[in-house]
Amino acid sequence: MPKRSWLSFVSKQKKQGVKLDDLLYALAIVYLQKRGFDWTGEDLHQFCLGLSGNNFSYGLMKPEPISVRVLNDDNSFELKKIGHTYECWRHLDRPQFQARIQTANKQIDADLLIGFTQIYTPDWVVRYLVDKSVLARDKTVIDPACGTGNFVLSAFDRLIDLGASVKDILNSQLCATDIDQTALSICTLSLCVRLIELGADIVQNQGQNLNLDKLELKGFRLISLDQTNELGSLYKDFSPEHPLSRTYQAVLTNPPYIGRRLISKKLKSALKTNFPNAYQDLSAAFLSRCLELTCINGRMGMITQASLLDLPAFDSLRREIIDQYNLVSIVDAGTNVFPLVSGDKVNSAILVIEKTTEVTDSRSFEFCKLPKVSVEIDKAGRLENGLFTRLDQKSLKVAYRLSEPVPSEILQLLSLPTLDSFASIKQGLATTDNARFVKRICDVPKDEIGIRWFPYVKGAGATRWYAPVTHVVDWQNNGERIKDTVRQKYPYLNGKANWVVKNEAYYFKPGICFSFVSSKGVSFRKLFAGAIFDVGASAIFLEDVSVDPDFLLAYLNSSLCVALLQYINPTINNQVGDVRRLPIIPIEHKDRVALAANANELIKLSQIKLECLPENRERILQSIEILEKDNDSIVLGAAKDNFNWTLDELNRVKTWCQFREVISSQASKI
Ligand SMILES: C[S@@+](CC[C@H](N)C(=O)[O-])C[C@H]1O[C@@H](n2cnc3c(N)ncnc32)[C@H](O)[C@@H]1O
Repeated sequence: MPKRSWLSFVSKQKKQGVKLDDLLYALAIVYLQKRGFDWTGEDLHQFCLGLSGNNFSYGLMKPEPISVRVLNDDNSFELKKIGHTYECWRHLDRPQFQARIQTANKQIDADLLIGFTQIYTPDWVVRYLVDKSVLARDKTVIDPACGTGNFVLSAFDRLIDLGASVKDILNSQLCATDIDQTALSICTLSLCVRLIELGADIVQNQGQNLNLDKLELKGFRLISLDQTNELGSLYKDFSPEHPLSRTYQAVLTNPPYIGRRLISKKLKSALKTNFPNAYQDLSAAFLSRCLELTCINGRMGMITQASLLDLPAFDSLRREIIDQYNLVSIVDAGTNVFPLVSGDKVNSAILVIEKTTEVTDSRSFEFCKLPKVSVEIDKAGRLENGLFTRLDQKSLKVAYRLSEPVPSEILQLLSLPTLDSFASIKQGLATTDNARFVKRICDVPKDEIGIRWFPYVKGAGATRWYAPVTHVVDWQNNGERIKDTVRQKYPYLNGKANWVVKNEAYYFKPGICFSFVSSKGVSFRKLFAGAIFDVGASAIFLEDVSVDPDFLLAYLNSSLCVALLQYINPTINNQVGDVRRLPIIPIEHKDRVALAANANELIKLSQIKLECLPENRERILQSIEILEKDNDSIVLGAAKDNFNWTLDELNRVKTWCQFREVISSQASKI
């Protein structure tokens, strides 16, 4: 049953007056019955009490037997549905909580905090983080904001699979804390159900004498906000035997998140004192706290707000992580990760970070940016199929941004001399009134062409190599009408029309132009002599006459350059200033000649492509692709030779280029 249908199921039960405790027990009983275990709700309640003592009894009351018929038909009913039922229950209460915030001076108290933060982690994320963090059977694990125990149950199963004993897991390896009694009790209830289910198998497979009555959940603790200065698991002064006073080999969580506006004054000030690098919001403080709870060589796995990856407010937290920890994996998961949080509200990031005494610059980590999808399953599939790039941790130090990692080879490239050292990159003409001054060639009298109207090159989006000139601009007497209009419109320019009519000295010259706005990355085209270029088609003019413009055109259109420009400016606006900063790789003479010849051919083919018969188009596109690939390998080869890269290093650069292409195509869809 998809999550939304489960919400309707829970909603129906609630409307019929079913009590939460009774519903949860009934679900647990149905789950056990489906697996051949005949327990009553009361037996189960006693068992849970025995295992967890008082922590449990506060949260869930002894159940009245009820029957939940709908489930008997649902064979896919999984154990985590018990916890999810509570999440849905809380979700249905949210409108009341919203209304209460309005009357509570917009600041959240303990009850509201619990109400607002019961948003649980989807299974595919839990599995990913558990697999990456719980690496051997003797590992200790904690979720310091466990809710109903998605991570707890998965970590338990994983430890069992790795061969750990139930007794060790429960008595010393697995810990969970939360401020919500009900959630913690449901976590215990689900774990008890799993124990009952596993009981017989474990006795057989591990030869253990599993006495369920003798087990104790010492590490499952309810945390009181009152006694922790509002901090809950963020509090650092627990008694030495408390589960939050030790460290763990795996710390896994999805921390609570509430906007800063909603945090009470008291909590704000406690956060500032305790988390000087991460006081801005609750999830940042949790990230910091979880790193403290991680032991040396242990791993912290978390799904959290993607804003932690690049908002300036979290700069020092990121700096601390990059400088002092080893990154294992970062997944920029985007929106729609949480089925009950609608639309584009929450952008998530999935992080796995290792604590170490030795942070080496040579460490690499895996990075993945998931596409924007509206269906949860697509993301899960994408993560499993792993569109991951391996990147150097060192590369992050340049910007301390975790969402824009770059391999060190790219940083080498970025240190080379840039395009503006031998070419002028100029913004084109802005007429201030295109409707009046710019026309299509076919709309002006032929005999006025070259007298009043002159060829005008406008932006051509993603078109590369060649675009036909289709427009003309009124440039009679060196643009007299345009300049007069500018002077009238902007009297404060004191007659200096050239502040708007820019770079006149470059009009009619040959060069290379590029589109100002292009969703497929930047595209460069030949600018033939005899035309004026528009602000939407800014242009490059070679100052060094020894450089063949066709060679430069081929170089600029190579995948490496396009990726570099996309990195320099990830938006779809290709600014003149960004193009100026493009690094120029030294390329041997024979390769320059080959690139120029290819560019020449590509210009011709692009022209033919526009005029050819449809049946020839495919063949021309193939020829274009072959030549462009040849250019790519010449440029990459030059970069490799220049920096003496190994094949591995070269491949890293190639992967990075592909990865930027994916990002660029995603950005264009946003
Ligand atoms: C987003 S839920 C995550 C639950 C679970 N880890 C999961 O991923 O499914 C956050 C949990 O944090 C708990 N919580 C909120 N503030 C807390 C605090 N200061 N200390 C400990 N737990 C807290 C909430 O009660 C809630 O159960």
